[in-house]
Amino acid sequence: MLQGMTPETPTAPSIDHATETSALRDATIDDAEQIEAVHYAAREAVYAGRVEDWPPPGPDRSGRIERWRRWLSAQDVDCVVATTSDGIVGFVTVRPSRDEDAGADMAEMPTLYVHPDHWRRGHGGSLCAASVQRAMNRGFRRLSLWVLDMNEQARVFYHSFGFAPDGATKVDDGTKERLVAHRYVLSLTETE
Ligand SMILES: CC(C)(COP(=O)(O)OP(=O)(O)OC[C@H]1O[C@@H](n2cnc3c(N)ncnc32)[C@H](O)[C@@H]1OP(=O)(O)O)[C@@H](O)C(=O)NCCC(=O)NCCS
Repeated sequence: MLQGMTPETPTAPSIDHATETSALRDATIDDAEQIEAVHYAAREAVYAGRVEDWPPPGPDRSGRIERWRRWLSAQDVDCVVATTSDGIVGFVTVRPSRDEDAGADMAEMPTLYVHPDHWRRGHGGSLCAASVQRAMNRGFRRLSLWVLDMNEQARVFYHSFGFAPDGATKVDDGTKERLVAHRYVLSLTETE
């Protein structure tokens, strides 16, 4: 399955799979500003005009960067970034699941974002694979995430990677519309 996530798939129709020289590395606190920029641009590309006031408008960029600095300092959070000559073009975080019904064996991927200028070039797949590796390194046996029902692009992506919905849903309280999110889970004991 993970082998299927290679960046350049020559047979895919009508998509520019332009090759980019890219690398993955662990994030540092100094990456907070670039990570925030990718996060905001990707959320804007997916939700602006579709979800009211999301991403939150306004000038609080410094507050968002500060929140990323705190995340990047947390001991139980791994963050991996994808870089090209443009700098950071994507990132993923992984941490223990905070769901009440999750056992200690379940990790969660709370964020996976690629800058829209770099979509469909394999960065999402590479970051997801890195997240799987980080979760396995920490001894987790399952990796979960929550994805909004309306986010078809991400749902297709997660399906293509091997995640499947486990039936759990919740109302996302970060948005005014209180949109429905589904939990997707990947077994980490069947990835070889
Ligand atoms: C979801 C996301 C991370 C995918 O990143 P990406 O770098 O574009 O993904 P990849 O290039 O690795 O795509 C891997 C496969 O996923 C599927 N896929 C990805 N985007 C797709 C789309 N828009 N439509 C259909 N299939 C898609 C394809 O099967 C693709 O393989 P292919 O390009 O060889 O056909 C990216 O779209 C993104 O940042 N979205 C906004 C943020 C977001 O919604 N994050 C998830 C929050 S839960």
